[in-house]
Amino acid sequence: MSLDDGYVNADYLKKMAERARSLKELSYQHMAITPGMTLIDVGCGPGVDTPALAQLTGVNGRVIGIDSDAAMLAEADKVIAGNELSTIIEHREGSATELPLENNSVDACRAERLLQVLSPDVEQQVVSEMVRATKPGGRIVLVDTDWGSASVDFSDGELERRLLTFFAREMRPNGFAGRRLYSLCHQHQLCEIQLDTIPFVEHSYEESPLAEWLITTALQQNIINEDEANAWRGELMTKQQKRSFYSCVNLVIVSGTVPEC
Ligand SMILES: C[S@@+](CC[C@H](N)C(=O)[O-])C[C@H]1O[C@@H](n2cnc3c(N)ncnc32)[C@H](O)[C@@H]1O
Repeated sequence: MSLDDGYVNADYLKKMAERARSLKELSYQHMAITPGMTLIDVGCGPGVDTPALAQLTGVNGRVIGIDSDAAMLAEADKVIAGNELSTIIEHREGSATELPLENNSVDACRAERLLQVLSPDVEQQVVSEMVRATKPGGRIVLVDTDWGSASVDFSDGELERRLLTFFAREMRPNGFAGRRLYSLCHQHQLCEIQLDTIPFVEHSYEESPLAEWLITTALQQNIINEDEANAWRGELMTKQQKRSFYSCVNLVIVSGTVPEC
């Protein structure tokens, strides 16, 4: 993914990380981190989690962030420059479908909002790779958005459904990834499966991926016409100005333990 792929760019991910900090903290709890552990963040993006993971594993631990995008990794390296724990953090180029890691070599492994940017055809392989790299007894943690659960307070319910269905189905490679995590963990025979589903509420229309990026793409693909685009933009910008814009989408955290045998 390039840095200018829709709203998934380093700046957006950093902003989103600030706003989703409590969700991230909860996902770290799912990893059951203790000092000295080796931790992996697959699809680490611009280093929005590796410094926090380093704090939790401490100076005797190790944190490896893996991403396929060299530009994201360069951003991630900038984030940790000068960090007192930078010596235990490594940002490594590699693919989630073929992790550059030995079998059973890490204590816990996470992937946040990775599966939604990949084809559903590879999600089994990604989880298999995470399980392969993690020691028996280690936690696997998956976090993703269920874009099929998104809703926006907009007066024309039919247009709202049309746009949000288009977003989930066509603008995300795997827009329904969030709702699939629970069965994915069962399919990989993980034990002690834990689930948290958290509503993510947005009050800024302009900062939402459901703003210009959505209506421009929907116009290009004849999902909506100019009048409908103007109606969406006009009503939702007005709501933002009046501080009454509301959108909501579910973020799902699922984790499980790699079986001992
Ligand atoms: C939506 S971003 C999420 C980044 C980060 N986990 C976060 O919470 O902000 C998805 C990340 O997955 C990376 N990615 C996409 N395909 C990948 C692949 N096949 N292997 C590894 N990383 C990949 C992208 O470069 C991007 O940094």
